[in-house]
Amino acid sequence: MNPVLEADDLHRHYAVRRGLFAQPATVHALAGVSFSVQAGRTLAVVGESGCGKSTLARLLTMIEAPTQGRLLIDGRDIVNADATSRQALRRAVQIVFQNPYGSLNPRQTVGDALMEPLLVNGEADAQRREHAARDMLRQVGLREEHFGRYPHMFSGGQRQRIAIARALMLKPRVLVLDEPVSALDVSIRAQVLNLLVDLQQAMGVAYVFISHDLGVVRHVADEVMVMYLGRAVEQGPRETIFNDPQHPYTQALLSATPTVNAAARRQRIILQGELPSPIAPPSGCAFHTRCPIVEARCKGQTPQLVPPPSTGESRSVACLVRQPV
Ligand SMILES: Nc1ncnc2c1ncn2[C@@H]1O[C@H](COP(=O)(O)OP(=O)(O)OP(=O)(O)O)[C@@H](O)[C@H]1O
Ligand SMILES: [Mg+2]
Repeated sequence: MNPVLEADDLHRHYAVRRGLFAQPATVHALAGVSFSVQAGRTLAVVGESGCGKSTLARLLTMIEAPTQGRLLIDGRDIVNADATSRQALRRAVQIVFQNPYGSLNPRQTVGDALMEPLLVNGEADAQRREHAARDMLRQVGLREEHFGRYPHMFSGGQRQRIAIARALMLKPRVLVLDEPVSALDVSIRAQVLNLLVDLQQAMGVAYVFISHDLGVVRHVADEVMVMYLGRAVEQGPRETIFNDPQHPYTQALLSATPTVNAAARRQRIILQGELPSPIAPPSGCAFHTRCPIVEARCKGQTPQLVPPPSTGESRSVACLVRQPV
């Protein structure tokens, strides 16, 4: 089966000025990530604040273009696509943000918010629009009478259901979820996560699920990509990443996750020091300044993300110490 989403060595740089007379510097927000996602599957993207998760989300949803690298949606290259197919590709990838208040218009009823994407994309039949919107409202667990209400009349969890419903109205191939439950009460999180799992099964949509918290993605991910300063440090099937993490950064993140089960629970690893600036990332392995197993060579040599040889497993690690050369 062909993947619905394929990223090949994606980069995104930003030019920034740090002072009036300073030379412009370059932020390597995304410094080369590759992955693929199949229809109906979930890739979780995990890492600390500033590691490039939302930058990746902006590239996938075509809000911004990659500085370098290739992005294929349903096998079609977004960079070389003509205007008509770009529009179709844009429709195929939708996004849900952390804060649904920001993405919903307070003056628009839920019904109108759900019907709008259909109208914008040329569904001229008002009855068909309303029927589809009411149907979606049911699918995300809201009720008939919610149709005419405004966003402020809902709880945070319900508003996120509305944002998810709106994103699914055009039946996208891929849904990018950027910290979709991070603003929600812990008690509500599981409900929204379960809803996402159900919707995926019903619609066959692929998810790119972004979170700073490994615990959140534990039950929804098929594949996990752990990021540090714009690069993937470890990538592979969910079970492998959770049961046998190899990269010291993955191990530290996992040890800080209280929700992992007792068998997999490890001693808490506290990372030393601050997250370095992506304007001047450390030489060699960017993680070496905080790494508990750092060796001298890690300062000069950049580890590549390669699967360990001869084991046949599909997990990759970018660590000179953990990776047999
Ligand atoms: N438009 C921009 N101009 C300059 N720098 C930017 C821009 N957008 C992002 N960055 C920088 O790129 C890096 C990655 O940012 P990004 O928002 O992708 O991180 P993130 O992983 O989503 O973080 P968070 O968990 O806080 O949401 C950060 O250092 C950020 O300051
Ligand atoms: Mg972000």
